[in-house]
Amino acid sequence: ASSPSQGAAKDWQKIGTVAELDKTGQLLVEDSPVGAVLVVGTSKAAKNLIAVNPTCTHQGCTVAWKTDKNQFVCPCHDAKFARDGKVQAAPAEKPLRTYLAKIENDSVFVKP
Ligand code: FES
Repeated sequence: ASSPSQGAAKDWQKIGTVAELDKTGQLLVEDSPVGAVLVVGTSKAAKNLIAVNPTCTHQGCTVAWKTDKNQFVCPCHDAKFARDGKVQAAPAEKPLRTYLAKIENDSVFVKP
């Protein structure tokens, strides 16, 4: 495995620390190198990490992850998205952008 680099935003990008993620099980970074990103999960289940661009595809509000419902919900007009970004409830029509996510060396990385 190659080590993460600072290179183009197509590579793995460090967006935060495992401590930050584990604190709440969510890590929201508005201005990462790949754009806004919301990672959901913890280091205890690192294989199940989810990462999306939380910008709602309806009118751009920031969606929130609802653990009990296992979906992202937009606070503005109640659009809902599955963990893979797919639309589950209108008014949004397009899926959320998703990223790959991984944990390495106590850091959280995402990749477009
Ligand atoms: Fe998200 Fe309208 S901006 S549902």
